[in-house]
This record gives sequence, structure tokens and C-alpha cells, in this order.
Amino acid sequence: MAKYRIAWLPGDGVGKDVLDAARIVLDALKLDAEYVHGDIGWEFWCREGNPLPERTIEMLKTTDCALFGAITSKPQKEAEEELAPELKGKGLQYRSPIVRLRQLFDLYINLRPAKAYKGNPLNIKEGIDLVIFRENTEDLYFGVEFHPVPEEMRKIPGMERVPADAAVSLKVITPKGAERIIRAAFEYAKKKGRKKVTCVHKANVVRLSDGLFLDTAKRIAEEYPDIEFDHANVDAMCMWLVKNPERYDVLVAPNLYGDIISDLASQLVGGLGFASAANIGDNYAVFEPVHGSAPKYAGQYKVNPIATILAVKLMLEYLREEEKAEKLERAVAEVIEEGKVKTYDMGGENTTLEVAEEIAKKVS
Ligand code: IPM
Ligand code: MN
Repeated sequence: MAKYRIAWLPGDGVGKDVLDAARIVLDALKLDAEYVHGDIGWEFWCREGNPLPERTIEMLKTTDCALFGAITSKPQKEAEEELAPELKGKGLQYRSPIVRLRQLFDLYINLRPAKAYKGNPLNIKEGIDLVIFRENTEDLYFGVEFHPVPEEMRKIPGMERVPADAAVSLKVITPKGAERIIRAAFEYAKKKGRKKVTCVHKANVVRLSDGLFLDTAKRIAEEYPDIEFDHANVDAMCMWLVKNPERYDVLVAPNLYGDIISDLASQLVGGLGFASAANIGDNYAVFEPVHGSAPKYAGQYKVNPIATILAVKLMLEYLREEEKAEKLERAVAEVIEEGKVKTYDMGGENTTLEVAEEIAKKVS
């Protein structure tokens, strides 16, 4: 029996292309693992009315962690039009499978590094090495929304100002949710010898929920006197990240701000072709490139596999295969620095798989 059982979730669009690339480097690293394919993605929405079938969830429960490619999603009206005829008109709602996975497995940490690898022509500056800890289960992603607003709700003091025909989405921050992501950020900083943790919020306006997040960060920071702590409003943070990204180290943020600043941060170091993410809970984890399914490039093996290969690196760290993780990151860094084999986004003409093979050569 293999040491690890890893769920293999290509999804659709370029998700399949980049997972093929991931497999090349995993095989070169000789990870002692079996890979179990899971049905997930747009085709299962169209055919079964569910992009994340129950059988896939059951399969995931038998694995150590999952590697996820990408999935197409469309606005509700368009999604309905593509349903199989027998599924139409049943009121089926499309829900993002990755958001569902985060909720189902309580994957409360979304760890997103943004590092300027030497020699990447797309870096806006050298010396950027950020790690974003995005809370991954709460905030506006909590999933409680109303439209219209129920009459009962409008009886709550203050709610009479909300018209009945409004759409309302609840931003939920719990003490437990705030504490566990902030603690994870500090623990990571401590373990990796990082110097500073910055809390991102908008507590000057969203006083109660972001206030709770910020107060929790201030309290936990006191337990880590060796790590510098500061905080900033999310709007200012975006400006500072463009202006002086090299001054930041570990960032911790509620879900939506983390979503936004992580896309911004990725563009400082080459864009979504370099952005990897680890969704981690206490019992399970899902690793993914941050980019979407880019349907127009599907099957063309054109997109940059580095985001996914760096997600593999995060997976190896999670599995405590530190040596392999380091080896893989060194290989990625070398291939970037040499600049010989590269995809179109970096000004090259190589395919997804050629880049993966070049990296694989260096680790085998
Ligand atoms: C991400 C994505 C997802 C999110 C989408 C696809 C639901 O943007 O992983 O950052 O909003 O979290
Ligand atoms: Mn996003």
C-alpha cells in the first residue's frame, strides 16, 4: 500500500492541463502515493445538477488530502440554461465546489504565498516574499443571504431601515473563527522565523465584525512578543502593497479581504500563473492554483503550471515531506531564473508540460 492516498480533482478547463503537469513532478519526486480521481466540475453540474457529487465527497473522506485544478462557474441564469433538459426548472442552485469543500471540511486556513522568484521578468520588484493567511469559512462567504428581507427580520431594531425588497448578505465573524486563523498566522511566523504579522481589516467602518477580528489579533499578538505586529485598513493595504510590498511579511485577513489582496499580491510577482493556495483544516486539506479554469485555453497546454506546482510544494509540506518540498521549490526557482523554458505569460513559447518536465528533470 502507498504511504499517501491523494484525491485527484482536475475539474475542468485548464484544470486538467495543470494537474497533468503536477503529476509529472510528483512522479519525478517519487512520492509514495496513490492518486484517486474524483468527479467534480461543470460537466457534473450540467449532467447531474451538482458540480460536487456526493460520491466525490465520500471518496475525499478516504484520502489524506486533495489536489484541485480549476472549475468553470457561470451566473445562475446561464448555469440553468446548460442543465440537462430533465433537470431544468427544478430550482437547482449552482454553488461553487471549492467554497463548498472549504465549508464541508472546515478548511479554515487559506494560505497564499506571493514570492518574487529571482529572474522572473514579471516581478514588479525584487525582494517580495509575502504569505497571506486568509480566513476561509466565514465573513461574506458564510452563505446566509436574504432576498427579499423576511418581515420578521425587519422587526429587529435598526433593521427597519432596510427596505423589504433589499438583498442582504450577512458578514459573519466569530471569536473562534478569528482566533484560529490569527493564531495560525502567528504560529506560522514563529515556525518559519518570519518577523512581522499584519492584520488587514476595515474596522473603522465595519465596526463590530472587523472590530472583533482586529481586537482578537491585538490580543493574540501579545502572546508573540518576538514577532512585530501591525494592522491596516484594507484599502490602504492595497495601496501599500503596490507601493512597498517588500516591507510586508505575513498578512492575516478575513475571507473577502484575503481573497482580494491575494489576487493583488499575485500580480506583484508574475500574476495568477504563480499563485498557489493551501486550504487547510484540522483534519483535511485541499491544494490548488488560485487561477480559474480559463475555458478558452482548455486542453491547449498553454497556461503556466508553476502555480499548481507550487501548490504541490504546499501539499508536500502539509504531508511533512519537507525535503521533497524544498527540492521542488529549488527546482522551480532555478527554472524561472534560467529563463529558458517558459510559457507565454513569461514571454516564452513552451507548453505547460514542457515547463513541468524541465522542473521534473531537476528533482529526479
Ligand atoms: C479564490 C476564488 C474563489 C473565491 C471563487 C472561485 C469562489 O476566487 O479561490 O480566490 O472567491 O474564494
Ligand atoms: Mn479569489
